[in-house]
Amino acid sequence: MKSKLADFDIQGKTVLLRIDANVPIDHGIILNDQRLVASLPTIHQLLDKGAHIILMTHMGRPQNEDPNFSTQQLISWFQDNGLDIAFAKNIDDAQNKKENHRLILLENLRFFPGEKGRDPQFAQQLAQLGEFYINDAFGTFARKDTSVTLLPDQFEEHHKTIGLLVEHELAMLDQIIKKNKKPFYLIIGGGKVADKIPLIAKLLPHISSLFLGPAIVFTFLKAMGKKVGNSLVDSNAINLCKDIIMQAEQLGVTIEYPLDYIIAEGSFDGPFEITENNVIPDGDVGVSIGPKTAKQWSNQLMKAETIVLNGLMGTVKRIESLAYTKDIFHAMTQSHATTLIAGGDSVAALYYFNLAKNIDYLSTGGSATLQYLSGQNLPALDALKNRTKTE
Ligand code: 3PG
Repeated sequence: MKSKLADFDIQGKTVLLRIDANVPIDHGIILNDQRLVASLPTIHQLLDKGAHIILMTHMGRPQNEDPNFSTQQLISWFQDNGLDIAFAKNIDDAQNKKENHRLILLENLRFFPGEKGRDPQFAQQLAQLGEFYINDAFGTFARKDTSVTLLPDQFEEHHKTIGLLVEHELAMLDQIIKKNKKPFYLIIGGGKVADKIPLIAKLLPHISSLFLGPAIVFTFLKAMGKKVGNSLVDSNAINLCKDIIMQAEQLGVTIEYPLDYIIAEGSFDGPFEITENNVIPDGDVGVSIGPKTAKQWSNQLMKAETIVLNGLMGTVKRIESLAYTKDIFHAMTQSHATTLIAGGDSVAALYYFNLAKNIDYLSTGGSATLQYLSGQNLPALDALKNRTKTE
């Protein structure tokens, strides 16, 4: 799918631009700005064409208007990157500031109950802000949030489109799907377990081997009756994990489990140690893979023709948790396979280790990337393709 942005006559008009600026941030410090950098081409093209922009994004999964999730923290990044930008704390504030500012960043969309609540009224209120709508937030394309599904319904077909980042992401994923090079190894870790386990089920027919890392692996281990200590488990997904294990066997897809782990004593913030075996002691939390796992998996990866990794095994907030995940990244750079690393935190870690340039494809999406690779529709893409204001 191509962006229609180049054909839009937007001189003096206001464009609502949905980006995914959900970057890792710690006490106001942006740990990796890849998603922000990736949003710049569309922003610059819009400004060059004389448009005014209302930038909209979510940040994190806030339960209330917690300042740690405020998009106001991003303003200085845009300023440091040469953009004259104002912050709007709500829709009225954005409306008032439009006159005097060409680029306005709206407060975190998830501070507004209508965003997650799929509220058509919230969509209408946002739509009042501009004449065009562009979605460049690939990381949200698997979501049904108002700003990516109901808001585009407020615009006519020729007033809405994808941005340049999304155009690039889709073209890149289409290439991987078209090449269809087997064996296809999927390495999956990270949190957001409830989102990802159903996607694994859909991906099984497309892959040769599934490498399950922390944290997602713990729900599978629990489903197999193993001890996982206090590790993250989605108890609603236990039965689905059992089905996946059975289905994988029927399809001839091998599942690889870690041989050892980095564990944190007591809680995720506790001191780290390495387990000698694949059992997480009572009270401890599995954080990442250990050295034996990294060695064995790295050897296995050399046989792959396609490797997709999504979900960080460890956390960018404690770099020492990534000691052996780094070995997996390194193995991917050494492999002759087509390699894709997807997801904000994984890509952030890859940049931290200076290995990003040796990976074939980097995707800003996590669930969106997996969902597209599994051949399923993306709700945010459907909202731009199929429906018009009058339908
Ligand atoms: C992501 O980081 O995967 C995207 O920004 C989507 O965020 P979400 O999983 O909280 O919807």
